[in-house]
Amino acid sequence: MAITKTKEPAFHVTGEVGWINDPNGLIFYNGQYHAFYQHYPNDTKWGPMHWGHVVSDDLTNWKYLPIALKPGDEGDRNGCFSGSAILHDGKLWLMYTGFTENEGGESIRQLQCLAESTDGISFKKHGVVIGEEELPEGYAPSDFRDPKIWLHDGLFWCIVAARKLDGRGRILLFRSGDLFKWEFVNDLLGKDSAGTMIECPDYNEELGYLLYCEQFQPSENGVHLNVHTNRFAIGRIDYTTGRFKEESRGIVDYGFDFYAPQTIVGKSAIIGWLNMWDRNVPSAKYGFAGMLTLPREISVKDGRLRQEPIASLGEVKKACSSLKVEDIVTRGVVTVKATALKSLSLRLRSDGSNYTELTLEGGEWVFDRSRSGEQIVGVEKDADSLAGIRRMPFSGKKEITLTVVMDDFSVEIFEDGRALSSTIYPPEGADGLELTIDSAGCEYERRDIFLKA
Ligand code: FRU
Repeated sequence: MAITKTKEPAFHVTGEVGWINDPNGLIFYNGQYHAFYQHYPNDTKWGPMHWGHVVSDDLTNWKYLPIALKPGDEGDRNGCFSGSAILHDGKLWLMYTGFTENEGGESIRQLQCLAESTDGISFKKHGVVIGEEELPEGYAPSDFRDPKIWLHDGLFWCIVAARKLDGRGRILLFRSGDLFKWEFVNDLLGKDSAGTMIECPDYNEELGYLLYCEQFQPSENGVHLNVHTNRFAIGRIDYTTGRFKEESRGIVDYGFDFYAPQTIVGKSAIIGWLNMWDRNVPSAKYGFAGMLTLPREISVKDGRLRQEPIASLGEVKKACSSLKVEDIVTRGVVTVKATALKSLSLRLRSDGSNYTELTLEGGEWVFDRSRSGEQIVGVEKDADSLAGIRRMPFSGKKEITLTVVMDDFSVEIFEDGRALSSTIYPPEGADGLELTIDSAGCEYERRDIFLKA
């Protein structure tokens, strides 16, 4: 049955219609930013994976291009899973996981495939290039996916998520001289992950960080309560040993809905999937499920990954400096600057009885979506998750800037380089904003995102 999209967020990427998950192949190529994403166009549920494709000049306004990869060929009969992009010989190359299974889901294989394009629009597939022969002994070819490729010292390097037959998730490092013939180098971290499987590893050689996600990972001291979590590790790969030397680690995003972040090749920025596995997606009734986050400028400082949202902003729509602010806003960027902040309460998308709330309590930010509108139910059973709550550390600095990016179905909150992102599905007309602050000084500013007609 054909589905149609009846609503969509103003500036967050969704599928043209249907389901999307991870961002894939993020790259600056031929003067434009290209973002691909895991996509099933025929339903609002996950299905045989395609690669959807959008392009942008400014990382704010995105335009659809035809679907870049469709499953059904040798090596990717049942799906084109996540992967990455690289420029080589003036062409755009995609490396992705080809998914195949026999009827009844037996004999699952996830192997790494290659495709190339000379125009950045249509892609020629080359089939499997990292297959079972390259997978070291003791690993499951049924859980081997999400290649991230880069160039270092004249060689191509690639990390792929894998699962040890007697253990948990691992990240495997491979190298190649020509993109087609690959050899295994080492098990990058040299130890089991805390989750049953690692997904979507990403490496940024220039800034020196590794990103990855863990499936079904128990929380640690009440932190990262999502059962599928996202992490950063600061450090670099030692190419002589093939091991990553970790200096510090942390969580990329503290919210309910953030997964599979990937760095844009050609820009120090990441984009993530603004959703989460194992939850209902209320927008399915509008013909779409899943969004991408706003791109975020990335830097590394004091052993931490720092993020700032990237968007072309319009003029200031409202500015004031007072302890109580009331405003009307559905979409846009709200910035609060405060000196010696003691307490803060921000209600967004409010109609009086429905609202999304951010408060500063006991030295941390507390985000509450329990009264946001339509309920989102996941598999998490801890008290915070059941209460619709997520927490993020507060910097406690004397001068702080809180940035809140709001779109029809999402809130992305930033303070001191940390981020907390969540979907929300408020009722029509719930557009009120109320801010109450106790601080030595404060400024409130709201801007639109600049959207081309
Ligand atoms: C992560 C993931 C990847 C896989 C893709 C399938 O969200 O599970 O590991 O390649 O989604 O759509």
